[in-house]
Amino acid sequence: MEIKRFDTAAELDIYAAQLFSDLLEHKPDAVLGLATGSTPVGIYEKMIEMHRSGKMTFRDAATFNLDEYVGLAPSHDQSYARFMKQHLFNDIDLPAGRAHLPDGMAHNLQAECLGYDRMLAANPIDMQLLGLGHNGHIGFNEPDNALQAGTHIVELKAATREANARFFDSLDQVPTRAITMGVGSILKAQNILLVVKGADKAEIVKQSLTGPITTECPASLLQTHARVIVLLDREAGRLL
Ligand code: GLP
Repeated sequence: MEIKRFDTAAELDIYAAQLFSDLLEHKPDAVLGLATGSTPVGIYEKMIEMHRSGKMTFRDAATFNLDEYVGLAPSHDQSYARFMKQHLFNDIDLPAGRAHLPDGMAHNLQAECLGYDRMLAANPIDMQLLGLGHNGHIGFNEPDNALQAGTHIVELKAATREANARFFDSLDQVPTRAITMGVGSILKAQNILLVVKGADKAEIVKQSLTGPITTECPASLLQTHARVIVLLDREAGRLL
């Protein structure tokens, strides 16, 4: 694991965007694994800036997002499909059909999970961007005594729903389930970029990177991957 610390979130964002830009320059049809949450927003802003100044094109790329809430239509304010349009897709030149997210409205969710895994198998991810939940979740893979490898439906933990309630009018509007890539799918990515910001994540950063490898902290499984780059702001890295 390569760990890099940055004095400011802005420096971190530029560094992360540059890694994606370098990848696309060297491999224009790269498959990018993308994430939602507040952490990647600044990185997406930098990507948009680089795109606008002609330094980054997504023309031949494809993207796969980690997860989506079950029961939220792509048009819903808080769906991850909407989030990605607002924060990235509307402002770059990625062809519409090449942005993939699991469909949380699918009539047959099991079939949707299998279909997503089939697409991932046919389009291996070159670089997967990951944020980190306060309980060590990655994507929506919540701590448990066992984890699933492939895309699956997950019951969200109370703590995760509470953390995400800030984006909804009230806690009861936060969906109780999500569809997420599994840890197995995440670990198949060629390169993984784990990005963490803020003092409130310092403890889980320490546990994830230096603690035991356990399904009770899904991010700790990243320790088994050969090509993980961890980008931390000063606060998130303060216990290492
Ligand atoms: C969400 C997402 C994760 C994200 C995490 C942290 O629930 N499913 O992909 O990494 O929580 O979010 P934030 O970056 O807002 O702290």
